[in-house]
Amino acid sequence: MENRRIGVLISGRGSNLQAVIDGIAAGRLEAEIAVVISNRANAAGLERARAAGIETLHIDHKRYPSREAFDLAVVAELKQRGVSLVCLAGFMRLLSAAFVEAFPNRILNIHPSLLPAFVGLDGQRQAWEYGVKVSGATVHVVTPELDAGPIVLQAVVPVRDDDTPDTLAARILEEEHRIYPEAIGIMLAGGWRIEGRRFIRRATR
Ligand code: GAR
Repeated sequence: MENRRIGVLISGRGSNLQAVIDGIAAGRLEAEIAVVISNRANAAGLERARAAGIETLHIDHKRYPSREAFDLAVVAELKQRGVSLVCLAGFMRLLSAAFVEAFPNRILNIHPSLLPAFVGLDGQRQAWEYGVKVSGATVHVVTPELDAGPIVLQAVVPVRDDDTPDTLAARILEEEHRIYPEAIGIMLAGGWRIEGRRFIRRATR
């Protein structure tokens, strides 16, 4: 990749953002967070970013006439800061094709299930209700289709008989915090390619 400047998009708590901040601070991830953007003013993650000395922006989706108009405003801010990779971290909005096309194969998302199972909202509860014995977390490249892009990393989390949706979500979250910084590092390191749906990390002989 051209540079290691990333933009992080959030809507809420920001614990995955924190994992990225911590990974950079600990030297496990070579990256610079150029900006954190939230569509919600009261997202706790904005405070985490400010505490780490990172620029924050609140861009209110309700002030734009369409999804695309909002997305293009976000894209403009990211481009202006020379961001080469966009990381969705609990950003609870669908991206328009216009957004995805502005950063082709340069947007990552973290999702709390083993995709392609349990897309959309509340993946942890969906898995618990379905009764699967393993669930987990997925980092994938974002395409216009919801939660469907090429998979960079996954982590498996066993479901216990005494789990509740909350206890399962807590164990999945630990894995999210581990694999998201790792996946960002893989993307920034380059040398990967995408063949069909498959994300391939290194050239094979
Ligand atoms: C995380 O569990 C993330 O996987 C999920 O939202 C949570 C955000 O937490 N994302 C999705 O469900 C996307 N479909 P965080 O704000 O503490 O990182």
